[in-house]
Amino acid sequence: MREIRITPSILNADFSKLDSEIARIADASDLIHLDVMDNVFVPNFTFDFDRSAAIIANCPIPVDAHLMVANVDAIAPDYARAGCSSVTIHAEATSNIAVTSREIRRAGARCGLGIKPGTAIEDYAEYIDDVDMFLIMTVEPGFGGQKFMYDMMDKLRKTRTMIGDRPIWLQVDGGVSLETISAAAEAGADTFVAGSAVFNADDPAAMIDSLRALANS
Ligand code: DX5
Ligand code: ZN
Repeated sequence: MREIRITPSILNADFSKLDSEIARIADASDLIHLDVMDNVFVPNFTFDFDRSAAIIANCPIPVDAHLMVANVDAIAPDYARAGCSSVTIHAEATSNIAVTSREIRRAGARCGLGIKPGTAIEDYAEYIDDVDMFLIMTVEPGFGGQKFMYDMMDKLRKTRTMIGDRPIWLQVDGGVSLETISAAAEAGADTFVAGSAVFNADDPAAMIDSLRALANS
């Protein structure tokens, strides 16, 4: 059976007490998903590099950084050097996947490639050996709490076929919840971001366990 990972996004957590917000989900999570937004690539701002580096340094479990920033090739290697276990650059923002991926990997992190809803996965098949994870967006990047786009399931299936037996993770991000996670799992995802579903739950750790059980079934 496919190994499943749940990577909760702290986008919907209380930013004024992130350490305790992370502490209550750390045991239940595989990695913490850190959404970095610059108000240029997406119309929202979250953390600059210094704030990110402090979160990464204090995080008790591995960090999966999702960089929604315009100057991604310049900044992605710094996130890897800051200690992230995985750094995702967006296909629409990078101008040199091979070089940036090499720098991320050289710093000891996995390289993810993010794909927005309007971007075709076929255009990136040639980069498959540069990538350790594909992140298929099931909302337009920028905000938590949006509706899951079921019409991305076909893209997930195509990506799973493209991956074949390579050890590449297939992440789905946006609107993942108890209602939607099974569709994403059936379409081939193995790594699941969930923001509002986790942080709006009365018991976030129990929600992560429930999401994991559905993804595994
Ligand atoms: C959206 C972010 C997602 C988002 C997930 O741009 O990349 O990680 O925060 O939040 P939910 O699960 O609420 O869609
Ligand atoms: Zn994200």
